[in-house]
Amino acid sequence: MPVFDFDIPVNRREVPALKAHPMVLGKDGANLFPAGVADMDFHAAPCILDAMQARLDHGVFGYEAVPDPLFPAIAEWQKTRHGWALDPAHILRAPNVLNILAIAASIFTDTGDGIIVQPPVFFDFYDILDENHRRIIRNPLLFDGETYRMDFDDLAAKAANPRTKMLYLCNPHNPVGRVWSADELRRLGDICAENGVLVVSDEIHADITFAGHPYTPFASLGTAYADNSVTCLSPAKSFNIASCAAAHTIISNDDMRAAFQRENSRLTVNKNNAFANAAMVAAYTNGAEWLDAALQYLEGNADLVTERLANVRGVSAPKPEGTFLAWLDFRALGLSPDDLTKFLRENAGWAVTRGQAFGPEGEGFARLNFATQRANLEQALDRLVTALQCFPRP
Ligand SMILES: Cc1ncc(COP(=O)(O)O)c(C=O)c1O
Repeated sequence: MPVFDFDIPVNRREVPALKAHPMVLGKDGANLFPAGVADMDFHAAPCILDAMQARLDHGVFGYEAVPDPLFPAIAEWQKTRHGWALDPAHILRAPNVLNILAIAASIFTDTGDGIIVQPPVFFDFYDILDENHRRIIRNPLLFDGETYRMDFDDLAAKAANPRTKMLYLCNPHNPVGRVWSADELRRLGDICAENGVLVVSDEIHADITFAGHPYTPFASLGTAYADNSVTCLSPAKSFNIASCAAAHTIISNDDMRAAFQRENSRLTVNKNNAFANAAMVAAYTNGAEWLDAALQYLEGNADLVTERLANVRGVSAPKPEGTFLAWLDFRALGLSPDDLTKFLRENAGWAVTRGQAFGPEGEGFARLNFATQRANLEQALDRLVTALQCFPRP
């Protein structure tokens, strides 16, 4: 197996990387540990870099079709890694996952319809729904101090409202790091199907799961589940190519797929990006070894966070089942959300995502992106532990 070195330092400021940008860190944030925006501080897989270089070397960038190997490669990837036998004819290219979520909401629901989300959840869900004038129906996750679970009774009650038309599922879940089990997904899918609620499943973190927590594609549960869903997928997170506009959606229901295609065409979101397509073909054809190595490194980082913060007063850091995001519980500090952000910034030098961005359920929490070189993470954790040790005890 080739050796991939994730410890090589990278300077994210050589390009306008959002994660290290004043837009995200603030004007005085250049020295903070940038651990907010959800991408990785790793070079892309060599097979991706080679494919993009080869496309660059060709030197001509006129209009292009989807390359023939792309959809079969996506299907083969899902089959081999996740046991999902999907039909390549059900795949549509998309620029990014948020775009799929927005289009699904706009064509499969009407203004004022209710769309269920399960907070604390990825903040852009709220923005999309607000901007599309949909009502946000909250089905908060239940937290026992260690693990999050779905509240199926509340879900059933909310899905039963005839104005509730869709559910945005986050599988695996950002920010709480749950990789939903087949049983949980089946139960959710049954409640939605019984009530005519379409499941739009954001599975962008699909390939990033840790030992003992296999990802179940919602649509792989069976034809009935597949036909009542839109799956959003992308190599953006797992292969760290978020700026390449490389996503795809799987819609097995023929009428829904045709409607999606019509909307893509109406909005002219149907052009192809030569580099993104080259990157996707490479990732899904030859990227497995790199991804396996990246997962091993990420799981090492996840363990480091959990172990380093175990028994440190003021924080609780359960290991996520998947994603490269840790959901840290600082409620024991008793700080207001603003004061917690200030404490992390000023006392620990951390720029992480505020928990309340994911909904009021996230107050007192912060989301740490640990997909960075281990040496960075170690230093940042040391600073946090020192800050917490100096925090006045009640
Ligand atoms: C759950 C989830 N969905 C979607 C996105 C964004 O996807 P894209 O950049 O493809 O729009 C993110 C990025 O953090 C995410 O965590």
